[in-house]
Amino acid sequence: MPRALILGGTGAIGRAAARALLLAGWRVEVTGRDPSHFPTDLAGLGASFIPADPRQLDELRLAIGPGADLLVDALCFTAGDARLLMPLAELAGSTVMISSKAVYADSFGNHSNSQQAPYFDGPIKEDQATVPPGTGDWNSREGYGRNKVAAEQVLLESGLPITVIRPSKVHGAGARPPREWVFVRRVLDRRPLLVLGDRGAGTDHTTAAANLAQLILVVARDPGCRILNCADPDAPSALDIARTVASLMGHHWEEVLLDSASEGTVGIHPWSTSRPIVLDTSAAGALGYRPAGDFASTVGEEISWLVQLSAQAADLSAALDEDYFQRFFDYDGEDALLSSRHHPACG
Ligand SMILES: NC(=O)c1ccc[n+]([C@@H]2O[C@H](COP(=O)([O-])OP(=O)(O)OC[C@H]3O[C@@H](n4cnc5c(N)ncnc54)[C@H](OP(=O)(O)O)[C@@H]3O)[C@@H](O)[C@H]2O)c1
Repeated sequence: MPRALILGGTGAIGRAAARALLLAGWRVEVTGRDPSHFPTDLAGLGASFIPADPRQLDELRLAIGPGADLLVDALCFTAGDARLLMPLAELAGSTVMISSKAVYADSFGNHSNSQQAPYFDGPIKEDQATVPPGTGDWNSREGYGRNKVAAEQVLLESGLPITVIRPSKVHGAGARPPREWVFVRRVLDRRPLLVLGDRGAGTDHTTAAANLAQLILVVARDPGCRILNCADPDAPSALDIARTVASLMGHHWEEVLLDSASEGTVGIHPWSTSRPIVLDTSAAGALGYRPAGDFASTVGEEISWLVQLSAQAADLSAALDEDYFQRFFDYDGEDALLSSRHHPACG
């Protein structure tokens, strides 16, 4: 039975990859620091948890033991992380490093985390220019893409069978942040209206963890030194995403579509970008990758997980990043906007 080891495997990507590999007959082990993050359904399917800090080489060496047929690293953010991964990749038949579409830069050097939205004149292929490699804080708007590029370079220059996968905005059970929460919570709160800026037109490609998992299966069987984009076969706009969530949850709300990007914080959403950011996934397709489904048929996993989580936990702040989400729920502002529109001031 082939063996897969997933580093940082208790998040959305690790969970989905582990599930797909187990169903395809693999033995799967996932690492993490906290065993309570290991989902019980994965244990039920036969996956094992190995406690290991992703930055402690001795712990990682123990985790990989004599080797693995597939090694997936979901937590490689810097050149230093990549160098730490190298001795493990030497013991693996195929290695996958999860990078990000945040590496892509347009002809002005703008990228998906720039103040100025990037302009790409069509779906982005893997040979699109990237931001330059960099060091410094990887967990910052400017540092994230640059550090990812530096990590990619270390790995690809090794010549080992390492596949760099560049997903876009990931959704799935265990996602951080689970961006669709901005609509799921509205349904749970029985909100009668939804306000979206730019008439909901923002398109920042979605990537189902379940689709990423299918690509990982392909790479597991066909090792190589390469870069592959990964995104859903469709590229829904924010309005499409909102409608899909409402429809899957059986909710109806009045849509208030603003011509402006927002009024204060009213109307903002996580997919806001003045120009579409869409990944070309034909290189993955040429290798035999077939997606598990489009956005509407894959997002249910994350919705179910969020609904279950909200039913179980009185306080969701530990599971969801409160700081990230706080600005998206200005219900008072929305109600005031709507009442001013329905009851314009006299005079
Ligand atoms: N989310 C997106 O939209 C998106 C988009 C593009 C690319 N990516 C890439 O996807 C990867 C993340 O995958 P994911 O979302 O499946 O994983 P994740 O949820 O971010 O993390 C997976 C597990 O790793 C551990 N972990 C998280 N942060 C850590 C840290 N700073 N140091 C050590 N351990 C940490 C946690 O377990 P323990 O705490 O128990 O150790 C966590 O359960 C990253 O490489 C990211 O750049 C994500």
